[in-house]
Amino acid sequence: MPEPLGLRIAGTGRAVPERVLTNQYFAERMDTTDDWIRTRTGIIERRVVSEGESTATLATAAAQEAISDAGLVAKDIGLIIVATATPECFFPSTACFVQDALGVGPTPAFDLSAACSGWIYAFLTGAHMLQSGHFRNILVIGAETMSRIVDYEDRATCILFGDGAGAAVLSATPDTSGPCVLHQELAANFSGMSLLSIPAGGSRLPASHMTIDERLHYLKMQGREVYKLAVKKNFEMVDSTLAQAGISAEDIAVVIPHQSNLRIVESARQRLGLAPEQMFTNIHKYGNTSSASVPMGLDECRKTGRVKSGDLVLMVAFGAGFTWGSALVRL
Ligand code: COA
Repeated sequence: MPEPLGLRIAGTGRAVPERVLTNQYFAERMDTTDDWIRTRTGIIERRVVSEGESTATLATAAAQEAISDAGLVAKDIGLIIVATATPECFFPSTACFVQDALGVGPTPAFDLSAACSGWIYAFLTGAHMLQSGHFRNILVIGAETMSRIVDYEDRATCILFGDGAGAAVLSATPDTSGPCVLHQELAANFSGMSLLSIPAGGSRLPASHMTIDERLHYLKMQGREVYKLAVKKNFEMVDSTLAQAGISAEDIAVVIPHQSNLRIVESARQRLGLAPEQMFTNIHKYGNTSSASVPMGLDECRKTGRVKSGDLVLMVAFGAGFTWGSALVRL
């Protein structure tokens, strides 16, 4: 097994828009019910941006909270990574917008695209950059405005997603006997293209009257197929992490999974024999916020005292691509 990566999650933050969309909002506008949404997904409400808000405004708010939680100021940050599937625009990157809003000068900044697994990819990228010795504090953000890419005429997808951002400041530590990344996994498999994608708007199929008429700029998903794969991957990632790290389920303080569907999370929990308090969920209040869901969960666990220094925390995510990844950390 590779050497653990020494790093400390020095601070975390999260931000969500004020505007709430309840299940009733959808029930009044399309052929669905509060009961269907709750029982099939676990979602009760989700947050969505209003005019003037965007992925970068949420990302910046979460970042400011994480920097202050770490006891730092913006100028202490040496690198900014933003995981997002809903960037401000093609370029400049969302990370450049955040860098400007934080007022940190010429700090390097870039976006990373791995859909719902994006923050796990970004977190591990940041961890390896810290290990290079060139940085002391790295800001890793997951931020999304899913409400800007879901089709509010498609009842099978629009009820699932919400907006939000989560951020963490990763700081270098001198040794690996304290806080560290103990185990990691990253993978991708292009088979996801036909099951979960936004078909138009990129170089493959640029915007045209046809793409707009056919609603091809919206997220398209074959929910049932994605569901089956997500259940399988969530289980496999936790199971293989336990085996490869040489620990048992009881050693984990909490698993923070990507919040895609309560039934997906619950099915993995039961198969793994984890106690309910060992599996974090907050999908009931935010829906699926894609790359923001894991860092938002991490922040909630830290701020509510659900995890403490020295605890083992396992973060896992599966998303479009397909991409998936996990990170086992000792806080
Ligand atoms: N309200 C009422 N009925 C709905 C509905 C809604 N909002 N959305 C879909 N339905 C209907 C379907 O049209 C279908 O009707 P039919 O049987 O007459 O054809 C029926 O409900 C069952 O659809 P199905 O897609 O099989 O339901 P499901 O139990 O799989 O639940 C999802 C649908 C989307 C909630 C579920 O598949 C899911 O969560 N998928 C994975 C989501 C995910 O993880 N996405 C992101 C990956 S990061």
